[in-house]
Amino acid sequence: MNDTFYLLIGICGFMFGLLTITYDNLEYKGYASTNNCTGECYEKYVEENGTVVEQLQAKAEEAASDPFSSIRGLWAGCAACHGQSGQGMGVFPKLAGQSSESIIEKLTIYKNRGEVGNMSSTMWAQASVLSEQDIETLGQFIQETMSE
Ligand code: HEC
Repeated sequence: MNDTFYLLIGICGFMFGLLTITYDNLEYKGYASTNNCTGECYEKYVEENGTVVEQLQAKAEEAASDPFSSIRGLWAGCAACHGQSGQGMGVFPKLAGQSSESIIEKLTIYKNRGEVGNMSSTMWAQASVLSEQDIETLGQFIQETMSE
């Protein structure tokens, strides 16, 4: 009876130790472990990359100086059909070289489920999620960053 008791305690102790060691060495996928980067290593990291706060500030400044930051994510969806630089692909019309007025006018027509060409219904769902501000910004974006 006593022997079994001590054996159980022993096994429990062993399992606890094993779990503790395993847990300490666990790393979440996708994140580099920063556990071991302290002192000199950390100073070197900061020298090369700046502190985390500095990195975030730099990103915020970049976004603030980019007038099109609000629609760049949206544009990725548009680009799937119209091409990364609006050059058009097959049946998908070219947007590059069009004035912002023309783009804004057509997007507004699509948003109201009106027709421009014979494939307008394809654009209805695309335009329905755009706010007036999005449409305005997209017009500027296409006019200013995509030439013929
Ligand atoms: C699923 C493919 C697809 C996606 C995604 C898409 N479009 Fe279109 N787009 C079309 C098609 C097809 C037409 C032609 C519709 C017609 O016949 O009126 C068109 C037409 C247009 C036109 C009118 C062009 C012209 O000269 O007649 C504009 C402007 C436009 N799209 C902007 C956008 C923007 C901005 C987005 C992203 C918010 C977008 N599109 C996403 C397929 C797409």
